[in-house]
Amino acid sequence: SEEDLQQHFDRTIGEDQRIEPRDWMPEGYRRTVVRQIAQHAHSEIIGMQPEGNWITRAPTLRRKAILLAKVQDEAGHGLYLYSAVETLGADRGELTDRLITGRQKYSSIFNYPTLTFADVGVIGWLVDGAAICNQVPLCRSSYGPYARAMIRICKEESFHQRQGFELLMTMMKGTPGQREMVQDAVNRWWWPSLMMFGPPDAESPNTAQSMAWKIKRHTNDELRQRFVDMSVPQAEVLGVTLPDDELKWNAARGHYDFGEIDWTEFKRVVSGDGPCNVQRVAHRRRAHEDGAWVREAAAAHARRNTSE
Ligand code: 3HC
Repeated sequence: SEEDLQQHFDRTIGEDQRIEPRDWMPEGYRRTVVRQIAQHAHSEIIGMQPEGNWITRAPTLRRKAILLAKVQDEAGHGLYLYSAVETLGADRGELTDRLITGRQKYSSIFNYPTLTFADVGVIGWLVDGAAICNQVPLCRSSYGPYARAMIRICKEESFHQRQGFELLMTMMKGTPGQREMVQDAVNRWWWPSLMMFGPPDAESPNTAQSMAWKIKRHTNDELRQRFVDMSVPQAEVLGVTLPDDELKWNAARGHYDFGEIDWTEFKRVVSGDGPCNVQRVAHRRRAHEDGAWVREAAAAHARRNTSE
């Protein structure tokens, strides 16, 4: 009976076991997992744009090769995640349509412009660092295909963060102009990186349920705090200052206190009115339309093969 199925589902979650595609699951669980994985996949694909902007402008062949590999990794992460969400019956074409018609989200962070090459390093250090804080716990997410996709993605994300930090260390050992470029990029990317973790727990409609279903293993604020605690010492090693004069160690809490995030900016960017939203979605739409002939040819080829 439905009762037994619900009890089996609850027991599986309660025992930290995985829910697999063919298992019974509450409709709400399916819906919220599709929502989160689809938007995670969209984030990876859109995230290729800000960095891709610098592939032809990288200062050396080595930097170009590293950046190329990183952007290709993001495409691969998107494909893993679209494949994971398809195990729940979602259709990747339909999800792309929702993305390009503004009916599904992608991470706010990718709506900011990459103005100098230092931005490539800061994205690696801060944005991929934040992604690691957020994604490592997702390796233990209750939905099996999602957790398994995360394990591979986290390994590659660590390379992304390392190369970003190394790039910045190189620039910080460079000219005063290069050091200023790094500090300027840190000033522009620090607060948007904190917004990647989502609204405060008290204003997060999904967190409580996602925690109960162990889709999420930590709340938005917990992971944001973990990211701040991790980044402050790294900023000191780099020799940059983080743009928050309320940032200071709180021995009683065992964490860094930090200033108030501008949630109006967050809401504006998430609702589509950030610096680059229109350009990012238009670029994705154009790429999708330019690729239509490939999809049609592949489908025609597949039909011909099956009819023979
Ligand atoms: N940008 C855009 N939308 C955001 C957001 C952000 N930074 N933070 C929250 N939102 C949206 C949520 O999607 C939700 O809207 P929805 O109900 O229409 O989906 C709404 O704001 C309320 O937020 P909640 O906290 O209630 O939503 P969640 O419980 O889903 O938490 C999340 C948001 C922490 C982003 C969670 O979905 C999550 O952990 N997702 C998986 C990780 C992910 O998507 N990371 C994106 C980072 S980019 C990346 O990883 C690429 C790497 O290569 C850099």
